Amino acid sequence: MVEPGPFDVAVIGGGVIGLSCAWRLAETARSVVLLASDQFPPATSAAAGMLAPVAEAHFGEERLARLNSLAALRWPAFAAEIEAASGRDVGYLRSGSLMVALDPSDRRQLDVVHAFQRELGLESFELGPSACRAKEPLLTPGMNGGLDLPGDHQVDNRLLLEALWTAVARAGVNVVHGEAGPLVNDQGVVTGVHLASGRILPANVVVMAAGAASGRMAADAAAPPVRPVKGLTIRLTAPSGAPRMQRIVRGLVHGRSCYLVPRQDGSVVLGATVEEKGFDLAVQFGPVHDLMEDARRLLPTLGEYTLDDIAVGLRPGTPDNGPIVGWSPVPGLLWATGHYRNGILLAPVTADEVVSLLDHHPGDQAGGDPDRSPFADFRPDRFVARRS
Ligand code: GLY
Repeated sequence: MVEPGPFDVAVIGGGVIGLSCAWRLAETARSVVLLASDQFPPATSAAAGMLAPVAEAHFGEERLARLNSLAALRWPAFAAEIEAASGRDVGYLRSGSLMVALDPSDRRQLDVVHAFQRELGLESFELGPSACRAKEPLLTPGMNGGLDLPGDHQVDNRLLLEALWTAVARAGVNVVHGEAGPLVNDQGVVTGVHLASGRILPANVVVMAAGAASGRMAADAAAPPVRPVKGLTIRLTAPSGAPRMQRIVRGLVHGRSCYLVPRQDGSVVLGATVEEKGFDLAVQFGPVHDLMEDARRLLPTLGEYTLDDIAVGLRPGTPDNGPIVGWSPVPGLLWATGHYRNGILLAPVTADEVVSLLDHHPGDQAGGDPDRSPFADFRPDRFVARRS
């Protein structure tokens, strides 16, 4: 079955990127259809919702760190805009984070990280153990100090998804739940998307925002170089009357990383594993055990908490860990994918960018002007050129 007329835009993907793009595009009076798959839960639903441009700044990823910092600045307005559009709270908290070291060797590693953060001009302040414990009294007395990162905040990933779904509905986006088949390719131009059911969604432009699945939803040049990187998060609730965590804590525990994100309702999200296992959503004992053990070493009181749920997500990883946002090599197809560990943080700027690409270069590759966008370093051609 073919829909009557082409939509202005078809967005493939029901995670934070696809929803944010669909919502923003619909607000520009375009007709938008959003195709959301039920096959894989979006990585957003398994995220912890950290907005962490500082703690997620990694060696060799300086350009990504700059993009992440810019994206963090966009968040306060974006959170207010979604809340206004949806009438729902997204749990955006400017709480700041602590990055802490358990043992002396973790401390030495943190010192190197601190120097790197300062080199990038990021706000990072060294704290001794008692200063850390003054900010987060539940930390174990045996820890070795840490860093105060006032620029790293959080949003509640699940509240955010609910708010985005409401905003999308209110903005008049047509939502289709189903499996995407191949893209419709009309003499080298993408003109829509097939559904596994046989239905076709015709569109003048297709935005591929299907996260980890983006790479396998299209063939050849239309497939972005995105792979799934599995992550587990664990949700816990404090017993009633127990003292609550005060701060986001990112820990180094005998060389392993973990994070603990306290929500306003008293729950805590522990994360996250980083596993290269393809499209595997199994919950295995080992990684869950390691994560819980590391978190409990940092905050012994977690042993008293209730285990609520374990969520698995597939992050969309790329060869350089940066997102891929821009016109693909195939006319009519735009990529907004590959956000790896920063999908929620980058959602507002990605949605703005997608709207801007459609406003200024409808349907085809960018013209000859110098690329001044924050995504200039994260265009598809950095991989496409390498492949040819
Ligand atoms: N951004 C945190 C993670 O990917 O685990």
